[in-house]
Amino acid sequence: MLIRVEHLRKEFSENVVPLADLSCEIDEGDVVSIIGPSGTGKSTFLNLLNRLETPTSGKIWFNGEETTAPGYDLNRLRREMGMVFQSFNLFSHQTLVENVMLGPVHLLGKGKQEAYEQAMDLLQSVGLYSRALSYPSECSGGQQQRAAIARAMAMNPKVLLFDEPTSALDPTMVSEVLAVIRNLAKSGVTMLIVTHEMNFAREVSNRIFYLDEGCVYEEGSPSVIFEHPVKEKTRRFVKNIRCYDWDSVKSGMDFPRLQGEMENFAYRCLLSPDLINRLEMLVEETLSQLFETGREIHISLHIHLEVHEKKGEIHVEIRWSGKPLNVLEGKDEYSMILLHHACPDAVYEEKDGVSVLRGIVRRKQ
Ligand SMILES: Nc1ncnc2c1ncn2[C@@H]1O[C@H](COP(=O)(O)OP(=O)(O)O)[C@@H](O)[C@H]1O
Ligand SMILES: [Mg+2]
Repeated sequence: MLIRVEHLRKEFSENVVPLADLSCEIDEGDVVSIIGPSGTGKSTFLNLLNRLETPTSGKIWFNGEETTAPGYDLNRLRREMGMVFQSFNLFSHQTLVENVMLGPVHLLGKGKQEAYEQAMDLLQSVGLYSRALSYPSECSGGQQQRAAIARAMAMNPKVLLFDEPTSALDPTMVSEVLAVIRNLAKSGVTMLIVTHEMNFAREVSNRIFYLDEGCVYEEGSPSVIFEHPVKEKTRRFVKNIRCYDWDSVKSGMDFPRLQGEMENFAYRCLLSPDLINRLEMLVEETLSQLFETGREIHISLHIHLEVHEKKGEIHVEIRWSGKPLNVLEGKDEYSMILLHHACPDAVYEEKDGVSVLRGIVRRKQ
């Protein structure tokens, strides 16, 4: 085992606690992609591993030694743990080859000639041999990031940490940087990669960590996490599912507000006007039957919408307690026609006093 993390916690303040209790183990040769919504502490996690940040509590072992113990040599840690940042962080007054030589000469005490030869080899391996004497400002973002990777590799680290290495790049330059990381993965370098590039993560890593709620919320092989995640939140994240929930207990029966929020949600999901129309038709017709004059109104009502962005469809669930009413078999024929038009495959179910109307509003074929 190369890295072991136990009950890691980081509080920036009373209210900002990105990592509450994170534990994990990483073996030599592992390529771990770290995914999760923004603000869930992915960068914080990497910065705690290489000790750019100090944990509030918890322990980290690296290569058999506890890095969080008093007296541990942080300079050694920095030599053995390479870091590639989103923003390249090259020294602007030095050429690419000088950037790559810097660590070996000053931190490892290598001779200049040896460091130069190694740097040129590394630049060649990332496709930058001919740019060795250029300054960072003369290079594209993709070239700078590839040089930053070569610089990290020059220290011959035991593990490389990447924090969103492609997110500051022009889209046209993403693939050249991913190709370099892919080659490193093939050569057996241990890596932890924070990334939003899901296809890349799936292809390059043997393990995926989904970070949420202050911990490694779910981890598994790429096929488990991307195709069969166990937990609901993971599924929503990887399938790019957005949700909207409305609860009468919290919001009262303020239907204009419900309608406004639903519309806002649908527009943010870039749904077509036709889909939005039929969603509203489904919800409004159901509610108007439920709240038709004379009917019992002491009910609780919950509306759950899920939008699958790729498929462009809305999963709708309307759940209420109180008197059961099969809104799909109501007396009003016009209402039936509208409901059928909105969602032909909607189904109604009643169990233990809870009624549910479920359906998927789809694009018209
Ligand atoms: N140095 C810091 N001081 C205070 N708050 C911070 C600091 N760094 C990060 N945070 C906060 O911690 C949370 C997690 O941040 P971060 O680790 O950058 O998330 P991610 O990389 O997953 O987007 C965020 O709410 C962020 O604002
Ligand atoms: Mg981050």
